[in-house]
Amino acid sequence: MSEYHEICLLADLPDPGAVGFEVDGVGGFVVRRGGALHGYVDRCPHTGVPLAWAPNSYLDAAGELLQCSLHGALFLPDTGECIHGPCLGRFLTPLPVLVEDGRVLVHEDDLDDVD
Ligand code: FES
Repeated sequence: MSEYHEICLLADLPDPGAVGFEVDGVGGFVVRRGGALHGYVDRCPHTGVPLAWAPNSYLDAAGELLQCSLHGALFLPDTGECIHGPCLGRFLTPLPVLVEDGRVLVHEDDLDDVD
């Protein structure tokens, strides 16, 4: 039977802000910016490393772009497209998330689809 996993409470996620998680062996994160939420697999398209330089630190200093800690690639929060750095033009892998009753959720079927 399929089920959802709770990542965090929406109220605990600042805007802008991000939170990392690991469920069923899949590392991911959710970014909130401008009222929108987007989920991604926590894997840089350059070398495959997790992006954050510290727990939940996915955004740049301005809180506008996602930034990889290893070589500084910058990604658009809304699309996951790399707009600066060694993986220019490539995309983070999206991971659908939804909000229900104030909880940010990810569905285990979407985690199963991650390579
Ligand atoms: S590993 Fe992310 S920019 Fe190189």
